[in-house]
Amino acid sequence: MSSLSRSAAACQRILRPATARAFSSTPSLNFDKVGIIGLGLMGHGIAQTAATAAATKNLHSSVVAYESDKIFLDKGRDRIQSSIDKLVKKDKMTWSQADDVLNKIVFTTDRSALSDADFIVEAIIENMDLKKNLYSSLGKECKAGTIFASNTSSLSITEMALASGRPEKFVGVHFFNPVQIMKLVEVIRTEYTSMEVFDKTVAWVGDVGKVPVKCRDTPGFIVNRLLVPNLMQAILLLERGDATTHDIDISMQLGAGHPMGPLHLADYVGLDTCLYIMEGWVKDFPGEGAFVVPEILKQKVARGELGRKSGKGFYYWDGEKREDPVGMDEGVNME
Ligand code: 3HC
Repeated sequence: MSSLSRSAAACQRILRPATARAFSSTPSLNFDKVGIIGLGLMGHGIAQTAATAAATKNLHSSVVAYESDKIFLDKGRDRIQSSIDKLVKKDKMTWSQADDVLNKIVFTTDRSALSDADFIVEAIIENMDLKKNLYSSLGKECKAGTIFASNTSSLSITEMALASGRPEKFVGVHFFNPVQIMKLVEVIRTEYTSMEVFDKTVAWVGDVGKVPVKCRDTPGFIVNRLLVPNLMQAILLLERGDATTHDIDISMQLGAGHPMGPLHLADYVGLDTCLYIMEGWVKDFPGEGAFVVPEILKQKVARGELGRKSGKGFYYWDGEKREDPVGMDEGVNME
């Protein structure tokens, strides 16, 4: 087979729809011990998801949830507890099942607890230098068979894979917020990832109850490549004074069937996160016309208006509850 047809065949393998095995109710038991690094917005949900599969399907013997700082570890545990409380209140889980899920998680600030994990998902802050340092250490600390998976939403998986010293055992697993509810996980393969590691990861995603899709290591993978430019266009509409916050959001809800309008979603994701993603892409891919940074996004982040997490973004927020739009709409004149 020529190298061209070999790579075409490899490409077809990557892009083939998820196998039946990935959705099977019989767990594949590929990973006995799973580690999660970082228990923030995404990491706590990933730990809870893995622990739920451990408790209900016996998928893992334990889930090690690691944070370097005790304060963040406790915050992560509280987040999991509050999500579980919601599920119990809605009769989606009993108290005894909730206990089983929590009992599967080993909360720790001791990184050596991860050294014999079979699969580690990293969900720390989106900073390439920090991630590369972490992977360079993990590559030395963990057993040879440990597979590393980054939940990055926009950074290069290949760069992290090379820093780990074991690029063939490195994949991306991109979950969506809120992790407990959103069904999709993008599984990302670099040119170094072994097919066996990739297939095992796709199967694991199915085993924990999510729907895997496969993508190559490209900016934003599938969802964010389409979603984040869309959020930017909504912000630009507002910036130009073409329509109000309310009308932009309600349009995409009622006209396009989205559960949240784009400005609401930008607040929900975090305006700092949106800005960080787009600024990184503008810098790395200056020729891509879909990548633009609206001025008002920069200004809001500079003022500390980060959306839901800071109580103000395009809307005011009372904790989890969205309130009125912030007064950007005054400049909009439809006469
Ligand atoms: N844990 C447990 N349950 C939760 C939960 C959590 N963390 N968050 C929400 N829920 C439950 C609620 O209790 C509720 O349960 P019910 O159906 O039994 O009443 C259900 O989820 C729906 O929640 P709400 O009633 O509060 O509100 P909505 O019906 O509006 O749904 C939503 C909320 C699921 C967030 C929905 O608005 C939605 O799908 N929004 C779009 C989210 C989205 O696009 N996420 C992707 C963001 S992009 C991303 O993550 C990528 C990153 O890299 C940037």
